[in-house]
Amino acid sequence: KEIFLKDHKLPDYYFDSVDLNFLLGEEKTIVSSKITVFPRVDGSSPLVLDGADLKLLSVKVNGEELKNGDYHLDSRHLTIPSPPSGTFMLEIVTEIYPQKNTSLEGLYKSSGNFCTQCEAEGFRKITFYQDRPDIMAKYTVRIEADKSLYPVLLSNGNLLGQGDLEGGKHYALWEDPFKKPCYLFGLVAGQLESRDDTFVTSSGRNVSLRIWTPAQDVHKTAHAMYSLKAAMKWDEDVFGLEYDLDLFNIVAVPDFNMGAMENKSLNIFNSKLVLASPETASDADYAAILGVIGHEYFHNWTGNRVTCRDWFQLSLKEGLTVFRDQEFSSDMGSRTVKRIADVSRLRISQFPQDAGPMAHPVRPHSYIKMDNFYTVTVYEKGAEVVRMYKTLLGSQGFRKGMDLYFKRHDGQAVTCEDFFAAMRDANDADFANFLQWYSQAGTPLVKVTSSYDAAAHTFTLKFSQEVPPTPGQPVKEPMFIPVVSGLLDPSGKDMPLSSVYHDGALRSIANNSEPAYSTILRVTKKEEEFVFSDIHERPVPSLLRGFSAPVRLESDLSDSDLFFLLAHDSDDFNRWEAGQVLARKLMLSLVVDFQQGKPLVLNPKFVQGLRSILCDSSLDKEFIAKAITLPGEGEIMDMMEVADPDAVHAVRSFIRKQLASELKADFLSLVENNRSSEEYVFNYPNMARRALKNIALAYLASLEDQELTELALHEYKTATNMTEQFAALAAIAQNPGKIHDEVLADFYTKWRDDFLVVNKWFALQAMSDVPGNVENVRNLLSHPAYDLRNPNKVYSLIGGFCSSPVNFHAKDGSGYKFLGEIVVQLDKINPQVASRMVSAFSRWRRYDETRQNLAKAQLEMIVSANGLSENVFEIASKCLAA
Ligand code: ARG
Ligand code: ZN
Repeated sequence: KEIFLKDHKLPDYYFDSVDLNFLLGEEKTIVSSKITVFPRVDGSSPLVLDGADLKLLSVKVNGEELKNGDYHLDSRHLTIPSPPSGTFMLEIVTEIYPQKNTSLEGLYKSSGNFCTQCEAEGFRKITFYQDRPDIMAKYTVRIEADKSLYPVLLSNGNLLGQGDLEGGKHYALWEDPFKKPCYLFGLVAGQLESRDDTFVTSSGRNVSLRIWTPAQDVHKTAHAMYSLKAAMKWDEDVFGLEYDLDLFNIVAVPDFNMGAMENKSLNIFNSKLVLASPETASDADYAAILGVIGHEYFHNWTGNRVTCRDWFQLSLKEGLTVFRDQEFSSDMGSRTVKRIADVSRLRISQFPQDAGPMAHPVRPHSYIKMDNFYTVTVYEKGAEVVRMYKTLLGSQGFRKGMDLYFKRHDGQAVTCEDFFAAMRDANDADFANFLQWYSQAGTPLVKVTSSYDAAAHTFTLKFSQEVPPTPGQPVKEPMFIPVVSGLLDPSGKDMPLSSVYHDGALRSIANNSEPAYSTILRVTKKEEEFVFSDIHERPVPSLLRGFSAPVRLESDLSDSDLFFLLAHDSDDFNRWEAGQVLARKLMLSLVVDFQQGKPLVLNPKFVQGLRSILCDSSLDKEFIAKAITLPGEGEIMDMMEVADPDAVHAVRSFIRKQLASELKADFLSLVENNRSSEEYVFNYPNMARRALKNIALAYLASLEDQELTELALHEYKTATNMTEQFAALAAIAQNPGKIHDEVLADFYTKWRDDFLVVNKWFALQAMSDVPGNVENVRNLLSHPAYDLRNPNKVYSLIGGFCSSPVNFHAKDGSGYKFLGEIVVQLDKINPQVASRMVSAFSRWRRYDETRQNLAKAQLEMIVSANGLSENVFEIASKCLAA
């Protein structure tokens, strides 16, 4: 059933306090709830509770058991048609079977331990409830279980008491003093040990920090603890936000659908985002842990203290919290490099979503399964929308807006407009039609042309914008696009900007006679122009600095302008961007050559441009690594009329090899000069050094030269940390053959007991571009270490396979057939994971007719499968309809 934002209604009843009692057992778990209910307005409307897969044992109202006709039960609801007026007590007892719950939603078992995942609508699998985020109540939770099997019993808030019971059982009693929606409920019971630490907040509160894992993994939680303390400090420093309880728990579980969950004071994490040691986790894992530990911690204010009125508002908490975790990671490392990584992610994943059948606004208008809307649009584009407020208001203005947001809405369930209003009101700002960012889907296309008038000393930028049609939104309004811009003089320096003429008015840019070197152009119309005055030489414009809006920009800059920006722009993000624009143009033109059967030739100016970046020792090493990374195959296919995976792959491989051979000496010295015999430390300079060394090694190994393979093998054997060991393995894995097979086997033997490392091994093989790799992936499905019930393993092997365009989109349809079969099989185990996998089909109409027919056949097969989940149905049917 499809649910619409426009149908939103206030609830008829609110809940005040909720008492839960869990009797955890091996065969069944009994959940008793006692809820104080009061009507929003007196009158007698029915009380409708959500419930799924529950066995109802009893319902009582004000202590009296209801008989069969006093309530209605269907597969999704428990309805009490005429409850008493005024406040009353509702008591419900249900029976559930966590040990059989493979959906990993609600209460389930992971490696013998009990844990929960309630967001978005999992609480209804635990007990009957008004499962919506605007029902905020105070919870007490009693957990009872066998003491030897489940020595640790955790829930939200403070521990009020615990003790032993008869029959080898024990109990714990928890109370959360903050009102919360049920999606933030959490419970964990099992054999766990903790790393303990403390944090003293700025106002002097002593907070106990505990990170829980199975005993053998506790030594791998040091980085997570470091990240947590850094996040707590950062939120105080940057936003003045302090933690509000005396205890903060994090639990790592191996079976988890997503990354992590911000349950009040009991964050539950996918183990891969907690556990790390230098030997087993890469720099990328360390960075991801820092970001996600921060993200979940930051939710305590943006999500928990202030939550969402309804699920359409998801980006209110997720866009804002992603923005906050991005800023946190920037401050802990390199701002430019973090920005490049975030923008790449947006381009690789979100732009395609915005251009496909699942396109939806940051605040969707409707959904069938909310779980399908935990998307890159809601999260990452949502974060870009928050970033635009900061760009427009400056750091201080943004902080004022945040302060007002908390002042107005602490303890409430609110909407995206409430956030907008706080930003506007705190700054008396004019945000024009900024709210369109929440309601219009699709990536705006902004075109810019420039002209210089030497006689008048003016430089003109003409903008036009267009938002492409998306499903359900054929016609779009122009949007408010902040374009941060600067002008470079012929020596490569930023020109001082004095004033700009726009919309019939001259606006001064310099403030208090201080010259400005960058300004925000507020583009709000379909077409408009900006005229800079006092420009005495023809400048090269640097546009959309720092990627100031989530748009596609097309400018009339020439290749030589772009090479100039690559070499000189004071905005490092735009230096990188200039290189990417050049690479995209180059790749597209070589694709045409390839399709016409012409020989491929690499433009020497491009090689030269990259060489000068490579050899510039003043540059950040990770920046260099990013600057010499070519745009992904998907990005290029997105720019083509008909996507041609074989041509794009051939061209990208050709350029990589060509660069490797022409820059071989440079790459070799980068590998040599960036080795280190020191012990692994996770800090920015070391990470950057390893990143540069590893990309150089990957380029070199692409040459399939005996000597260079030996080099990679040497790096593999001498590596003392996973970052370097795995990079060397991946370098070798580019070229199939004897060494490739031996090293892969060696790696597995080394790490067979560490499932997180084994997942890397699965992913590497799955992602291979070797022709016909689908057979290899099919074989891996029956590898003893494989298990379709574990989401991480699915993401590694199946997700990995879909990320190789040549194999997933193989012309014989073998990739589509494989995915189709897996989706149907997986859907019976875990609909959320199956639905994430089926999304790989979403761009099927972008390919040639043969491929389209093959993909369509699989989608049709999936949609007609018996007992299909709503999750997969929604995605697959939207793919077919659009
Ligand atoms: N709120 C969690 C986070 O972003 C994600 C929960 C995802 N749940 C889901 N059903 N998709 O931190
Ligand atoms: Zn989140």
